[in-house]
Amino acid sequence: MQIQTKELTYNLEQWKQGYRSQKQEYDYQITEIEGQIPAELTGTLFRNGPGMLDINDVSVRHPFDGDGMICRITFQDGKAHFLNRFVQTEAYRAEQIAGKFLYRGVFGTQKAGGWKTNAFDLNLKNIANTQVVYWGGKLLALWEAAEPHRLDPKTLDTLGIEYLNNTLKPGDPFAAHPLFDPKGLMVNFGLKAGKLDRTGLLTEITIYELDLDGEVVEQHSHIVPGFAFIHDFAITPNYCIFFQNPVGFNPFPFLFGLKGAAECVKFQPEKLTKILVIPRNPRSGEQMQTLETKSGFVFHHANAFEHDGKISIDSIAYPTFPEAEPNKDFREIDFSTVTPGQLWRFEMDLTTQQVTSQLVEPRCCEFPTINPANVGQPYRYVYMGAAQTTDGNAPLQSIIKLDRETGAQQLWTAAPTGYVNEPVFVPRPGSTQEDDGWLLAMIYDGERDRSAVVILDAADLTKGAVATLWLTHHIPYGLHGSWTDQMFMDSI
Ligand SMILES: [Fe+2]
Repeated sequence: MQIQTKELTYNLEQWKQGYRSQKQEYDYQITEIEGQIPAELTGTLFRNGPGMLDINDVSVRHPFDGDGMICRITFQDGKAHFLNRFVQTEAYRAEQIAGKFLYRGVFGTQKAGGWKTNAFDLNLKNIANTQVVYWGGKLLALWEAAEPHRLDPKTLDTLGIEYLNNTLKPGDPFAAHPLFDPKGLMVNFGLKAGKLDRTGLLTEITIYELDLDGEVVEQHSHIVPGFAFIHDFAITPNYCIFFQNPVGFNPFPFLFGLKGAAECVKFQPEKLTKILVIPRNPRSGEQMQTLETKSGFVFHHANAFEHDGKISIDSIAYPTFPEAEPNKDFREIDFSTVTPGQLWRFEMDLTTQQVTSQLVEPRCCEFPTINPANVGQPYRYVYMGAAQTTDGNAPLQSIIKLDRETGAQQLWTAAPTGYVNEPVFVPRPGSTQEDDGWLLAMIYDGERDRSAVVILDAADLTKGAVATLWLTHHIPYGLHGSWTDQMFMDSI
């Protein structure tokens, strides 16, 4: 029998190269530019991700355990400047001096010495590797299970752990997915999962709202039954929305030093996903509502909005929690065996508590982003990293734009040699149209073994990159980034 094999649009060996540590810290003007940087593009792109993926050639078990490295790309007068620095967390400094892993990573990285060395060591590494935002005059590197680290935006020097004017207590988590309400508020949450009482496991969600000065102007906590693993959320003017995916947690392999905490999370396909709808104003008298929808797993939401007593939310959903295979290097992934994330629309009726869901885009996609002016509002365009192929799972090689009104799509691709990271939307100064702006994304080119910052015209992805800014080196695949119109250099 002849087996038909689908032609791959990617080279797995080249893709793997993008998961090498970048131990060097650089500071230079970017000079190798294809196309032209728009003269109106003035400000700073910050981006965070695991930069250190090994210590003395001993690899992390999962890239999410890699130490946070911030990239800062400054744009002014058609020129660009690159700077990268590791977040100097206490654990990063200690491990670099020791030359070996001294901490256990949440995703399974263990201290040398086997389970006996790791058993009952619950001291996890605050790895500061997931997002970086500039808000209230502070640059914050975020990791969801602990406090933020504050950095100097001019130098990216680490200033220390940030407690948000004594709002956070030592060890309090502050998630890595803050949302920016166009009214001028940063909304975020902290999740304490796995509390135990007579009824079983509980999770505490604390919501924080910070004004433009960085002052915490709203803070309220809510207890929900069960263990929750929540990475992201969505907001509307009146609500915060969380998907509590059906997972259980067996702590014993973690306690006994056999697995990382996240490796003890077990998907429960027989259970429903709970959708928690929490009023943003705790004085409104309105109670939290818990709705239910089919089983699945969501890391990222694109946006949510209210209409006619309902909330619509667009999210990247997986049919199951993508668990890592035990004892297998994360680089040795067989994409054909992993189910892809796909964009879904969930609609929640707050009166009847009914939820409907509809598949919007079957193509494998992740890292959704929108025009920041539309956060929590009805919106038309969503942009995502996407596979080049239209079915099955594959590395993200393209950026797709979906028109939610007409269903039209546009696609820009870096295939076959390029791999994309999260796009960040930057509105054009003075813009009035939702898609009038640019998408900035870092790509890794496997053939050149170098990374680049790509600038796309969000109104028309099909015309190709407006500019491609080649770095002189590679940057490992990252997680999230953010834009500010402010600059932290006198000039480039
Ligand atoms: Fe994320």
